[in-house]
Amino acid sequence: MTVREIQDEIIRLKKEKNICILAHAYQSHAVLEVADYIGDSYGLSVNAQGTDADGVIMCGVRFMAETCKVLSPDKKVWLANPMAGCPMADQVDLEIIRALKKEYPDHAVVAYINTTSELKTECDVCVTSSSAVKICKAIDNDKILFIPDQNLGAYVASQLPEKKFTFWHGGCPRHAAVSYDEVLAAKKAHPDALFLVHPECRPKVTVAADYVGSTTGIMSFAEKSDAKEFIIGTENSIVEHLQYSCPDKRFYPLSVNLTCMNMKLTTLVDIYDTLTGKGGEEILLSDEIIEGAGRCIKRMVELGG
Ligand code: 13P
Ligand code: SF4
Repeated sequence: MTVREIQDEIIRLKKEKNICILAHAYQSHAVLEVADYIGDSYGLSVNAQGTDADGVIMCGVRFMAETCKVLSPDKKVWLANPMAGCPMADQVDLEIIRALKKEYPDHAVVAYINTTSELKTECDVCVTSSSAVKICKAIDNDKILFIPDQNLGAYVASQLPEKKFTFWHGGCPRHAAVSYDEVLAAKKAHPDALFLVHPECRPKVTVAADYVGSTTGIMSFAEKSDAKEFIIGTENSIVEHLQYSCPDKRFYPLSVNLTCMNMKLTTLVDIYDTLTGKGGEEILLSDEIIEGAGRCIKRMVELGG
């Protein structure tokens, strides 16, 4: 089968079975072309809630499929490639969060959405990179325990000096590995380019940016901007997607290391196999987890708007 033949077959099957395909913006271009909705973590959560399809295939990582199941418990939800996880999501477990809550009993517990649904049952609200500032501002507590991404937490804290933040020292192994030297080298190589960056990067990297935002925030900034050149400080698939949507502009990767191996796992064959019952993993969560994580995720959607 060629790429185009398998894409046509996926499109035919998803219509026949009334199945919606959600894809995170870090997926390959071939996967994005068969998706019904492409978005950042926040957009995927909101869309997962709104679809009237009978089932949802998530092309992304496990916490995204879990979020989708929590918000649509009556639908069948599959993770197209069961090996696709986010290493950050496993950095804080129940034992750690319970100990932290004892240590900081008067803090609101804010979890980045890149956490397991089990962990979310112990948190007050979750946030995504695009909603974190708005939600932390809206929380009725000036003390916030922010887990697990200390870089995103530091960025949010820099925008909300009126609040006191305590961090857990976790983060994205890809974004956190980008160095300030790489920023200097990219700016030297492309002096006219605007620098757009994801808040999972270190503070020394984000302060040097012209724009800090989520994956789709970065894409829409570049698409709307009058500038012609951009250094992209997030997963390198975004460089490729922008090259297609803005052929008259130039996009440069900030670092060759900004490749998320987990996001890269999902292929068209995984989606085809999920649709034909030969692959994918159906996400099954206990009522307790759906209820507890649901409270935390729904609070995010309420406060995030
Ligand atoms: P977004 O919320 O920007 O999609 O980020 C998700 C993610 O995993 C970034 O590494
Ligand atoms: Fe997780 Fe980082 Fe990959 Fe995003 S880029 S899914 S935070 S490992």
